[in-house]
Amino acid sequence: MSITPEELYKKISQKNNLLLLDVRNPEDFNASRVEGRFTPETINIPYYEFIEDEQKTLKRIPKDREIVALCNKGNSSDFVVEILKKQQIQACNIEGGITAWGNLYVTHAIPSENYEIIQIDRPARGCLSYLLISNGEALVIDPSRHISFYKQLIASKKAKLKAVFDTHAHADHISGGAALAEAEKVPYFLHPYDAIHPFDMLPAKLSHYEMLNEGFSFKIGELTLKVLHVPGHTLGEVCFLVRDYLFSGDSLFLQSFGRPDLGGQGKAWAPLVYNSLFETIRKEIPGTTLVLPSHYASAQEANESGVFAQKLDDLFKSNRDLQVSKEAFIQYVLDHLPTLPPQYQQIKRVNLGLASPTEEEAAELELGKNICALSTAYNKNKFP
Ligand SMILES: [Fe+2]
Repeated sequence: MSITPEELYKKISQKNNLLLLDVRNPEDFNASRVEGRFTPETINIPYYEFIEDEQKTLKRIPKDREIVALCNKGNSSDFVVEILKKQQIQACNIEGGITAWGNLYVTHAIPSENYEIIQIDRPARGCLSYLLISNGEALVIDPSRHISFYKQLIASKKAKLKAVFDTHAHADHISGGAALAEAEKVPYFLHPYDAIHPFDMLPAKLSHYEMLNEGFSFKIGELTLKVLHVPGHTLGEVCFLVRDYLFSGDSLFLQSFGRPDLGGQGKAWAPLVYNSLFETIRKEIPGTTLVLPSHYASAQEANESGVFAQKLDDLFKSNRDLQVSKEAFIQYVLDHLPTLPPQYQQIKRVNLGLASPTEEEAAELELGKNICALSTAYNKNKFP
């Protein structure tokens, strides 16, 4: 028996008594895991151990709960499930394995008036993107690379895409922004500072690219999107304000903020992060505004409906990373800059149209969860 990634998502979004049996090799297991709001206990027993000594390996399998087996593409876990079933152990396989899990997108509607805001969650990456619709016109913010998902979603809403926006040039995942804009023949908006590769210093090669700056606005139906330049995570990082919603990109997360070193300029950009958070966002945006970030570090940041959102006032009270003086903030950032994942430079090249990976290479580049938040890489060694 198999379950789809969607079914797995539903199971681990609520309390469960599952055991996740990951049968990949330990290297792959350590590189990426399946997590949800209620991540089950997870054990790693590579499938080849079942081949080498089935009886001995079976003794390590708990018999008191349902087992969900996972591998890279769903084949070796299927093989293991058959062995478990012969022993009358309740077990099922995840169709398509971790690869299919990586391609899963889940939607949640944000309650709004006579327009639609849909938060699109890519659980394997902790990436959030957004679809906004008003009077049949749509725009997308921070789409991930599987653009057919967005095309189908927009078509199902009988809406017409007018533009695609990225809050910044992403380093942790491959953006679908430029590709979606090109496919639908609409503009792709990105701040010009981010349209230059921060390491190679090469300009973007994107067919539908258009610049946006502080104060730029764009209308769909009755909604107006306004741009706030909030440099720090990248030099061209922007937020989008639409009525009382703030699409905060990687500037402000619910539990942290965007690390400033992904362009190789941690020391120079750390003060910019502080200024953007405290001088621009905190001072210029009303506290009742609902913050909708582009990443999360843990699925537990979601509310009971699975939505990642928080009012600005509440977020500044509950996000402990924001409870300090400017000096302490900058020092903390500089003391805790994690290693820059080597693939992030290449991902930026892809996002600027300077490299074109195959599907296999793209999946490899994106493996594992984003580490765009400063705290994410440290297991929450937070401010005192
Ligand atoms: Fe980012």
